[in-house]
Amino acid sequence: TLTANIAGFEFDDILLNAAGVYCMTTEELDQVLTAPGAGSLVTKSATPSFRAGNPAPRFTKMPLGSINSMGLPNNGLDYYLDYVITKQAVKPLFLSIAGLTKTDNLAMLHQIQASNFNGLVELNLSCPNVPGKPQTAYDFDATRAILTEVFQFYTKPLGVKLPPYFDIVHFDMVAAVLNDFPLAFVNTINSIGNALAIDPETDSVMIAPKGGFGGIGGEIVKPTALANVRALRLRLNPAIKIIGTGGVQTGRDVYEHILCGADLVSVGTNLAFEGPAIFDRLKTELLAEMAKKGYRSLADFRGNLQTL
Ligand code: DHB
Repeated sequence: TLTANIAGFEFDDILLNAAGVYCMTTEELDQVLTAPGAGSLVTKSATPSFRAGNPAPRFTKMPLGSINSMGLPNNGLDYYLDYVITKQAVKPLFLSIAGLTKTDNLAMLHQIQASNFNGLVELNLSCPNVPGKPQTAYDFDATRAILTEVFQFYTKPLGVKLPPYFDIVHFDMVAAVLNDFPLAFVNTINSIGNALAIDPETDSVMIAPKGGFGGIGGEIVKPTALANVRALRLRLNPAIKIIGTGGVQTGRDVYEHILCGADLVSVGTNLAFEGPAIFDRLKTELLAEMAKKGYRSLADFRGNLQTL
């Protein structure tokens, strides 16, 4: 009963991991792939080659969520491309890429275009590791420029991972860019960038990289995530589907993402804390919430947020 469709792919369940969590190795990916309640998975954002990432501690629990500065540790595109090609018959899968330059992103997309992978690609325009530049998606001209080049040759289903926006005009501006391209989906939100968490015992920052600055996720980001899902659903072409990400801890949180217009919902921080058993719990809780409200299918309430 909990199904979705993106770019012609049928998802038998609407939950998946958020990129970066439980998706670095084939062992982790297999656990998400086979987890009851999970309808798909996304691989750790890939660069062309292996990266070790930042020194530890680089992800930690903090009050109301998590903070991280991983530094894009990953096994390189070939590793994840091989994985999704091997497993693509099981269910529709997402391959995430996050080049540090436009050149790297275009090269990876050329490789994927030429490969046997038939699933969905999530182009991460919200990667905080691009030296000397803001996240691509915070630069609307740069976002238009890369998508223009991508769609000159890339013909497989493609979506973008977005950072949170905090200004109504920015919602308008990013939607105006995205609506000019045949995107299959957007995924919103990535972590809220460059926050600081402080340990009250030691007066120290909580992660080692970047003087303690890192992206935050979990409960604390849920209102920002819901705002971004809602704002984009109200602005994007209906053909562009939405993956809602941010602050999902309970079935009620999944339900609220769908109320705001999400088609799929992904789980990052709380998947890291709880493990892949979270998907079945969230599914059970979502079904209970729907029953309470008298809904039998997602279409009964998707986007149906009430305003005053
Ligand atoms: C990393 C963090 C992100 O939020 C992202 O989108 C990509 C990579 C990282 O630090 O590994």
